[in-house]
Amino acid sequence: MKGIILAGGAGSRLYPLTQVASKQLQPVYDKPMVYYPLTVLIASGIHEFCLISSPQDLPRFQRLLGDGSQWGISIEYREQARPEGVAQAFLIAASFIGQDLVTLILGDNIFFGGDAFPRAFAEFKSGATIFAYHVNDPERYGVVEFDAEGRAVSLEEKPAHPRSNYAVPGVYLYDNDVVAIAGSLQSSPRGEFEITDVNKEYLRRGTLRVQRLSRGTAWLDAGTSSSLHEASAYVQTIEKRQGVKLGCPEEAALHRGFLSLGDFEKLVTAMPQCEYRDYLAEVAIEVKRVGIKSA
Ligand code: G1P
Repeated sequence: MKGIILAGGAGSRLYPLTQVASKQLQPVYDKPMVYYPLTVLIASGIHEFCLISSPQDLPRFQRLLGDGSQWGISIEYREQARPEGVAQAFLIAASFIGQDLVTLILGDNIFFGGDAFPRAFAEFKSGATIFAYHVNDPERYGVVEFDAEGRAVSLEEKPAHPRSNYAVPGVYLYDNDVVAIAGSLQSSPRGEFEITDVNKEYLRRGTLRVQRLSRGTAWLDAGTSSSLHEASAYVQTIEKRQGVKLGCPEEAALHRGFLSLGDFEKLVTAMPQCEYRDYLAEVAIEVKRVGIKSA
């Protein structure tokens, strides 16, 4: 399965921070935001990536992430000339997707905990799998409504009067039909090709699975200055308490077997002296001591 990271959008809600760098490059505690969604996909077994961003920001992502070979993965880059919606990603990346299955993750979605994603990826064969997460403010998101049997019955993008508290987070798994479906969409009243319209088409076909994420999974939003700060505080709290870091692509690549321990150690040695390096050096020592544990 191929992986797309969409790191587009105007980032207007984070102005003036976004005058310096795009939203997905802002620090979330000790790492750039894009490290978190990238790590979620690496930990789920994805190793072929395409990152989509604006023409201005794409070179900065390239400088940060390179071609991915340092982590045993590959990363291609594509431009989204204008922020015209999440679903456009499948058209921009059509040549990258080829005939494969594909997952899309939004570059500003931060998740921790639970094993829902690796399991969903391992089980996925066809149709679409999306997730549902109970939130306080569903009107800000795509919203899914369930019937008494727990089956998804409706999907709406940012409804003024949500039919449930279940928001759809920005991780989506699709079969190859998604490219044709994205190509047939009309743009929405807000002028975007909506990912919710893609999901509605899978719902209409009867091939949409909606998996509820349990309380054990945290889904954070970092789209405003205060939520960005809260996300940083959350990461710091967990990292300090547990002595583990969240959102380290190097560590996830090592655990997934994309990177050998020898290559991992070379990477760490080449890093400047910093907490991040100290942490990864400890990870290497731990792996030598007890072998690879799931992250
Ligand atoms: C997008 C999707 C929305 C989804 C959200 C998750 O919203 O359109 O359905 O719930 O991402 O972050 P946007 O970021 O474009 O407001």
